[in-house]
Amino acid sequence: MRLLQLRLHQFRSYEQLTLMPPPGITILIGENGAGKTNLLEAIHLCCLGRSHRTSNDRDMVRLGSSTCAVHARVARTSVQDEVGVRLFAAQGERKIVFVNGKTVQRMGELMGHMTCVMFSPEDLDLVKGAPKGRRTFLDMLLSQSQAAYFYALQHYNAVLRQRNALLKEIARNKAQASMLDIWDEQLSKAAAPIVIQRRDAANAISDLATDHYSFIANRKQERFFMRYQGSLMDSLDPEADMRKRLAASREDDLRRLATGPGPHRDDLQLMLSGNDMRSFASQGQARTAALAMRLAQIDILTRAHQETPLLLLDDVMSELDEGRQARLLVRLDRMQTLLTCTELSGMQNVRPSCVLTVKDGTVKA
Ligand SMILES: Nc1ncnc2c1ncn2[C@@H]1O[C@H](COP(=O)(O)OP(=O)(O)O)[C@@H](O)[C@H]1O
Ligand SMILES: [Mg+2]
Repeated sequence: MRLLQLRLHQFRSYEQLTLMPPPGITILIGENGAGKTNLLEAIHLCCLGRSHRTSNDRDMVRLGSSTCAVHARVARTSVQDEVGVRLFAAQGERKIVFVNGKTVQRMGELMGHMTCVMFSPEDLDLVKGAPKGRRTFLDMLLSQSQAAYFYALQHYNAVLRQRNALLKEIARNKAQASMLDIWDEQLSKAAAPIVIQRRDAANAISDLATDHYSFIANRKQERFFMRYQGSLMDSLDPEADMRKRLAASREDDLRRLATGPGPHRDDLQLMLSGNDMRSFASQGQARTAALAMRLAQIDILTRAHQETPLLLLDDVMSELDEGRQARLLVRLDRMQTLLTCTELSGMQNVRPSCVLTVKDGTVKA
């Protein structure tokens, strides 16, 4: 896939900007705070309808403006697509998503028109951080692969919210515990496709990431793999087992006012040579594992769409030694890439098509 044009209007530090990145690697160079990550974030927004670093859309609207918009034109093998997102500063205003000139009603309709994989310094949290980051990794990957997953996840989350709201009503004697029956049924049905697809994806990603890890690390003695973890991880019939688990935890749930079992608590266990990386990995190992997971994400998206995603590399090169940097670039070959850095020194392995300087809300050759 190729990004032909990106247009920003009142987005973060940018008043107006049009960017037309060439094929190959574009280096975006600039001081800290210059606005480099903002550009990658805008691309991520067009791909997934949300930022990679904030869950609050309003953060992206330029201070002093009531609205912002991002618009992208991409070329795929046989088609060109235009996608856009408009956000509002006012609370309660819903974002507007456009695909090929038409406003779409459901966010899922955006998925797949434009796909990206973002490498960022925060990826260390994939390895070292809380389970939520790893769930998001799986969810973003699956949502970009197939919009049906995104809808299934939205549905699960909606049912979960309803069940949790009902738990609170019951605690205040505003509803009867027996009313949980229908939500348990709904939640069990909604959980099954999430569990099955996450488990399949985790296995597929693990196989790919094992290979990427040993290539990037260049150390045969370290073996990386990952394992899907959750209350239904080994279940042959997740719907039936979820129903049983909900019944068993009903009393606990009523006491804690939250739903215990289910994929909203899932995790990925990352293992290196038999040890759980969350507690054992060095900084370098964690960084390599995160790269391996992102490379696997590229493979899965390429397979799903018969097209390579756009690669967004935010400040990751400077963190890598020369060998790892060179080997990473081998695996990224021939994909359109936007890469940010604060200085060109240490980038001798990179062969850019174009180097742009980011400064004061502008981008110049
Ligand atoms: N909503 C906003 N309105 C105006 N400026 C913003 C907004 N959000 C962030 N910025 C500015 O963007 C800059 C940070 O941009 P960023 O892309 O993260 O920098 P970097 O080049 O280090 O990646 C800061 O100067 C910040 O003040
Ligand atoms: Mg940055």
